[in-house]
Amino acid sequence: MNATSPAPAAVELVRVRKEFGSAVGVADVSLKIGQGEFLTLLGPSGCGKSTLLGMIAGFLTPTAGKIVVDGVDITDVEPYRRDIGMVFQSYALFPHMNVFDNIAFGLRMRKLPKADIAVEVRRAIAMMKLEGFEERRVSQLSGGQRQRVALARAIVIRPKVLLLDEPLSALDKNLRAQMQVELSELHRKTGLTTIFVTHDQGEALSLSDRIVVMNRGEVQQVAAPVELYRTPANGFVASFIGEINALPVARYERAGAEAALVLPGAGRLSAAAPAHWDFTHGVEVRAFLRPEHVRPARPGEQGPNILRGVVAAHIYQGSHTITRVEMEGLGLIETRVTGADIVGTHPVGAPIALVFDLGEAVLLAAR
Ligand SMILES: Nc1ncnc2c1ncn2[C@@H]1O[C@H](COP(=O)(O)OP(=O)(O)OP(=O)(O)O)[C@@H](O)[C@H]1O
Ligand SMILES: [Mg+2]
Repeated sequence: MNATSPAPAAVELVRVRKEFGSAVGVADVSLKIGQGEFLTLLGPSGCGKSTLLGMIAGFLTPTAGKIVVDGVDITDVEPYRRDIGMVFQSYALFPHMNVFDNIAFGLRMRKLPKADIAVEVRRAIAMMKLEGFEERRVSQLSGGQRQRVALARAIVIRPKVLLLDEPLSALDKNLRAQMQVELSELHRKTGLTTIFVTHDQGEALSLSDRIVVMNRGEVQQVAAPVELYRTPANGFVASFIGEINALPVARYERAGAEAALVLPGAGRLSAAAPAHWDFTHGVEVRAFLRPEHVRPARPGEQGPNILRGVVAAHIYQGSHTITRVEMEGLGLIETRVTGADIVGTHPVGAPIALVFDLGEAVLLAAR
């Protein structure tokens, strides 16, 4: 696991734990977040993302562990004295207040002079492109505009750390894509250390410097997006990041430079063994292979790594098609091909041969 970060730590979590009665919400998480880093917490619903953010913000008290910001232990510091900006899953704006007052709230709590408040609020309004909306009530804004107000309210206090808990989850697909770009820009302009929560892996891959994958309160892997995608640390991460085919448990065979998987009831796949495949001959492994590394065989194609099945479904996605193939001994396997021709050449129910590029597979020891 890669738990190191490139810059000096802006936030350090030391064995942070949260129990709710007998249930464990977050289990002993240790993590260093670099100055100016955009770090994403990614994981399924209930894995502890909001609980971890809540402890950093100070709304939740850890059962055990320590939270350090800029070298200072803030575990027992009250939330409003932590210099942490937060946008909640539900925005949590004041609906009866106008945009200006919502954004000014944190500064008024901090008892800043009125003139300074006006300057700071105007700066945040400009940064979030909300000019002209100052007097509008929040209840009269669109989802995207509310989102901007929530972000403006979080950055106006010039926080040391910005916490974002699924800030885009309520937005439709297009607006969400647009706000992702704006979040990136905001991060670039402010250089704010940001901890972003999502359960959308595409969003995590596109926005983050590093991603923390969580499951059941535990950190599964901490890595840069490309590293996470290419070398997932375990089956959970492999299955959670991007589309992937999980092959059944297979026997690993090694003869010189060649490695092979013997898949019971399905056949044999082989490849020139990549250097990091250091498994012992005869052990049981699981292979994970992305749909772009499985392709339909050309007509009449012969050779190793070709297995046969029957087309079960096509999922047309514009630039490409994901085709699901029912294969004996393997179950459903997905292949990803450019365009939509496959829908005509291999209709549902037709036989199809697939070529597996085993050398691209992620191999993990079967437990
Ligand atoms: N106040 C609470 N009392 C009891 N259990 C809680 C409480 N808050 C959270 N939990 C439990 O702790 C676990 C983690 O919850 P958390 O809200 O952190 O998940 P999450 O990763 O943010 O999920 P989501 O993606 O759905 O927002 C869940 O099992 C949840 O039921
Ligand atoms: Mg949550």
